[in-house]
Amino acid sequence: MAFLSCLVLVLLCCPGTLEATLIGESDYGGVPLWINRLLGEPSVLSLQGRMDRGWFQASNPQACPEQCDCPIQWPTSLYCDHRGLKQVPEILPETTQYLFLQGNNISSLSSSVLANLTGLRWLILDNNQLESEELEETFLHNQTHLHNLFANHNHLSSVPSSLPAGLKQLRLAHNRISSIRPGTFQNLKNLTLLLLQGNRLQIIAEGDLKGLIHLNLLDLSGNLFSTVPRHLPPSVQQLYLSNNSFSDLGEDSFADFDNLKYLRLSRCGLESRGVPPQVFNSSSLVELDLSYNKLTRIPSVPSTLQHLYLEANQIQEFNLTSFCRETGPLSYSRLKFLRLDGNKLTYNQLPQDWVYCLRVIQSIYI
Ligand SMILES: *[C@@H]1O[C@H](CO)[C@@H](O)[C@H](O)[C@H]1NC(C)=O
Ligand SMILES: *[C@@H]1O[C@H](CO)[C@@H](O)[C@H](O)[C@H]1NC(C)=O
Ligand SMILES: *[C@@H]1O[C@H](CO)[C@@H](O)[C@H](O)[C@H]1NC(C)=O
Ligand SMILES: *[C@@H]1O[C@H](CO)[C@@H](O)[C@H](O)[C@H]1NC(C)=O
Ligand SMILES: *[C@@H]1O[C@H](CO)[C@@H](O)[C@H](O)[C@H]1NC(C)=O
Ligand SMILES: *[C@@H]1O[C@H](CO)[C@@H](O)[C@H](O)[C@H]1NC(C)=O
Ligand SMILES: *[C@@H]1O[C@H](CO)[C@@H](O)[C@H](O)[C@H]1NC(C)=O
Repeated sequence: MAFLSCLVLVLLCCPGTLEATLIGESDYGGVPLWINRLLGEPSVLSLQGRMDRGWFQASNPQACPEQCDCPIQWPTSLYCDHRGLKQVPEILPETTQYLFLQGNNISSLSSSVLANLTGLRWLILDNNQLESEELEETFLHNQTHLHNLFANHNHLSSVPSSLPAGLKQLRLAHNRISSIRPGTFQNLKNLTLLLLQGNRLQIIAEGDLKGLIHLNLLDLSGNLFSTVPRHLPPSVQQLYLSNNSFSDLGEDSFADFDNLKYLRLSRCGLESRGVPPQVFNSSSLVELDLSYNKLTRIPSVPSTLQHLYLEANQIQEFNLTSFCRETGPLSYSRLKFLRLDGNKLTYNQLPQDWVYCLRVIQSIYI
């Protein structure tokens, strides 16, 4: 009941927003909690510890599998998470649109288990033991409404094939994925988010991500890349490559993107001699994370950049030409936020004329 009153408060506080309202982040691979008042989307990924089971079981008229919970508030949601299940329960209500199966021991999925759930929108399978060999190729056949597929923290060795064409978000972080079959994404024109961090990818071949024409966020952090991968969709605006090991960046590593805004290259072992002067010269960049590397100089960044993270490097000098090639009435750096703490620098090393270049800076940490 405590949860219910909390939910009401959230709904009341935002009367103007009829569409989905972002209320905070949970730790499910960065999945935020959403409330969609019109669609009645569930706002939580688990009911564990939030509601007394007996309460809605006693008052609930709808048929509910024994191993699951069916809250009255969301008649289209089925919560079967954290039950130690080895298999998906056999008979699932056909009205199910949001199926929560995370934190179980499920290793295989056949094509029949979800076949009758023709309105499925979200399928959450995080923290199971899914094996690529045990997924029947057609297990998502006919799931034309499926928008969100979560399978973080499983044992998958490749990206599932035959993904439904309507998919918008695919989360496959922290698996054992070492390869993507060419053509896997061929029909996924609506996919905007793809999480593949914490896998074992070494290379992206030409056909691997082909077809992702609307991909916006691509997380490839914590893989085994030794050079910045090529053949990434040009539409990507948020590219996360931290925790890979790049000895150097090629001059045109990021030249193929149409509108790259957020670039993360933290903990990549980068040294200044491996960072070509032009590599970040892209006027669309808003945020650049180069923290926890081995840089000794501040790299040259575009004057349009607003956030720059360089903490925990070995930078010894502060050279304004990194930010401003020239200084004039209209040529100055748009940098608002600069982190240089954890380097070999002191405030005294800022040149006297730095304020003419960093004219709109709001925070600087040295
Ligand atoms: C999952 O299965 C393993 C052994 O196969 C067992 O040790 C573990 O306790 C099971 N986990 C749950 C949540 O039941
Ligand atoms: C799917 O529906 C058909 C017809 O209603 C039924 O015979 C079958 O058992 C159902 N399958 C599952 C897995 O629920
Ligand atoms: C998908 O739908 C088609 C046509 O309705 C049907 O023949 C096929 O068996 C379905 N596939 C699965 C895996 O249920
Ligand atoms: C992709 O999104 C568009 C716009 O929302 C929609 O009209 C289209 O049906 C979607 N494509 C698929 C394959 O679901
Ligand atoms: C990178 O690795 C560090 C240390 O192992 C870890 O704390 C951090 O969460 C990782 N970050 C990413 C984005 O993978
Ligand atoms: C950055 O690239 C643009 C064209 O894309 C070029 O005009 C400009 O001179 C470059 N900046 C530097 C500092 O070389
Ligand atoms: C700053 O860097 C530029 C270009 O690398 C160099 O020509 C200049 O001498 C440097 N200035 C200082 C004060 O080190």
